Amino acid sequence: MQGSSPKARKIVILTGAGISAESGMGTFRDAGGLWAQHRIEDVATPEGFARDPALVHGFYNARRSAAATARPNAAHQALARLQRDWPGEVVIVTQNVDALHEKGGAEGVLHMHGELAGALCGACGHRWPAPLEMRVGEPCPRCAGPTARPDVVWFGEMPYHMEAIYDHLAAAEIFAAIGTSGQVYPAAAFVQEAVAAGAHTVELNLEPSAVVSDFHETRLGPASRTVPAWVEELLAPR
Ligand code: APR
Repeated sequence: MQGSSPKARKIVILTGAGISAESGMGTFRDAGGLWAQHRIEDVATPEGFARDPALVHGFYNARRSAAATARPNAAHQALARLQRDWPGEVVIVTQNVDALHEKGGAEGVLHMHGELAGALCGACGHRWPAPLEMRVGEPCPRCAGPTARPDVVWFGEMPYHMEAIYDHLAAAEIFAAIGTSGQVYPAAAFVQEAVAAGAHTVELNLEPSAVVSDFHETRLGPASRTVPAWVEELLAPR
């Protein structure tokens, strides 16, 4: 459904680790990234957690501490400005588990891979705010089982909010992917959903992603520069 004016169009944005890189948060697949330091099967799978929960808690405790002191950069702040000033709906879907979008003023962010700030009981499904340091055997506040884990989505697990995300993509008139390598599904295929919905698609990334050819438009450069410029352009009076 076309909005009343071209500026009432619905914008759906997918972000990845690259939008938080300039806030000091490590990315996964850049040189020296997190997957160069750790094996995914050891720290980001249910099997890895069952095998060595202390190693997994250590991995997420370090990232939770880094995220707790990290500050949002101009890209996070520009997306919050877009949400405030754009006449149509702006939905932010993130693969990131940090809270930098929220610290930058964004609202209603859909964390499809969960959040470092959350703890989850592997037995009863209870969720509660995670302490900065989670320890092995931490009891669940509801069922008291020694089954607390970080509330993040590991490989082999179903990402969160997928039904809502596909509904947003089906109604998108502009879709942007920011700071993601396009190597992990289902997020890497969101651009195809947006194209099928007739949206204009743009990739804002430091280098072309694995799915750059699916986008109508590409803007290369650091997010702290490309995202504010893109938002400025969108909000400029026609
Ligand atoms: N500005 C913009 N883009 C950047 C910047 C920057 N300053 N720095 C890096 N990038 C880009 C890189 O070029 C790369 O394309 O960000 C992307 C980061 O890619 P990944 O490290 O693969 O991170 P991401 O795409 O978010 O990974 C997706 O994989 O391991 C899982 O769950 C994890 O959510 C993660 C998912």
